[in-house]
Amino acid sequence: MQILVTGGLGYIGSHTVVELLNNGFEVVIVDDLSNSEKFILNNIEEITGKKPAFYPFDLKRKELLSQVFEAHNILGCVNFAAFKAVGESQEKPLEYYENNLFSLINVLQEFKARNISNFIFSSSCTVYGQADKMPIDENAPLKTPESVYAKTKQMSEEILKDFALANRKKISLLRYFNPIGAHPSGKIGELPIGVPNNLVPYVTQTAAGIREKLKIWGNDYPTPDGTPIRDYIYVVDLAKAHVAALKKLISEKSETAIDIYNLGTGKGSSVLEVVRAFETATGVKIPYEICDRRAGDITMAYANADKAEKELGWKSETTLEEALKTTWKWQKYIK
Ligand code: UFG
Repeated sequence: MQILVTGGLGYIGSHTVVELLNNGFEVVIVDDLSNSEKFILNNIEEITGKKPAFYPFDLKRKELLSQVFEAHNILGCVNFAAFKAVGESQEKPLEYYENNLFSLINVLQEFKARNISNFIFSSSCTVYGQADKMPIDENAPLKTPESVYAKTKQMSEEILKDFALANRKKISLLRYFNPIGAHPSGKIGELPIGVPNNLVPYVTQTAAGIREKLKIWGNDYPTPDGTPIRDYIYVVDLAKAHVAALKKLISEKSETAIDIYNLGTGKGSSVLEVVRAFETATGVKIPYEICDRRAGDITMAYANADKAEKELGWKSETTLEEALKTTWKWQKYIK
């Protein structure tokens, strides 16, 4: 039961590796450390008492990838390896297309050549753009993406569907809403490079005194308090969904499967609600100022995750405040 986890030292990847190990899977990580750190591997071992195999290389290096498949008896893959910064993707479209699509295709080529099935893909609610109605279920129409990053997610989904149909493979597309939090041990979590783009890491760094104050990008949205609404899902809950999706694919009787699941809590929270929840959870006050809107931001997105509950027996269990507490523990660990 060896599972390849690409990007397995990254934020969601590392939490998923822990859950896979806790569920009796053996894990083989390929991660080029472009957006992750080697110490995460040791901390995964401290948390689980198990040591995953680790290969530090870029998935575009086909010959090295082939060697990993030669060396291990791979039953499936959870694919996280990708560039993920929305703003940067607009400035470096070729790098994003090359990295995110070629690395995916290279793993799929190995699956095809070696007759392996069971592929889980890390997708995003970004494929829905600003959906017309809330909550968003899996049948909501996909909108023309705003960013190159979002386009790579939509394209990857299409590549995977075509691959599954043509080669009779089983794939699962997991569309995450906004992942937050860290492992309760405080030993793995998100490691933003430079100034964080995402809300929760920025709030956390503000609480730690690394940032002076939070900039809230607009309070003139058509929402109750004027700030945009998102569905913040705890990363450990999210990681558990990957294990459930993988088990379902493995036990699936039919040769071909294309599973699509929204992974969120089903509850929307505004930016100001997140700030208040952080303050309640940690007792630390967050100074903030209201600024102009950020280009490309949507007003509202929260999930209907009923399909995941029905078919995977999975649902989010952790409250916003509990999740934010773990973020704070992690921030104090890395400081
Ligand atoms: N926000 C601020 N100040 C900040 C950072 C964020 O006010 O410093 C606000 C944003 O305007 C937004 C909310 O907090 O209203 C959430 O912003 P994030 O950047 O944390 O998350 P997004 O929903 O914008 O981005 C997420 C994923 C992306 C994905 C995108 C698609 O992180 O990977 O959803 O909508 F592309």
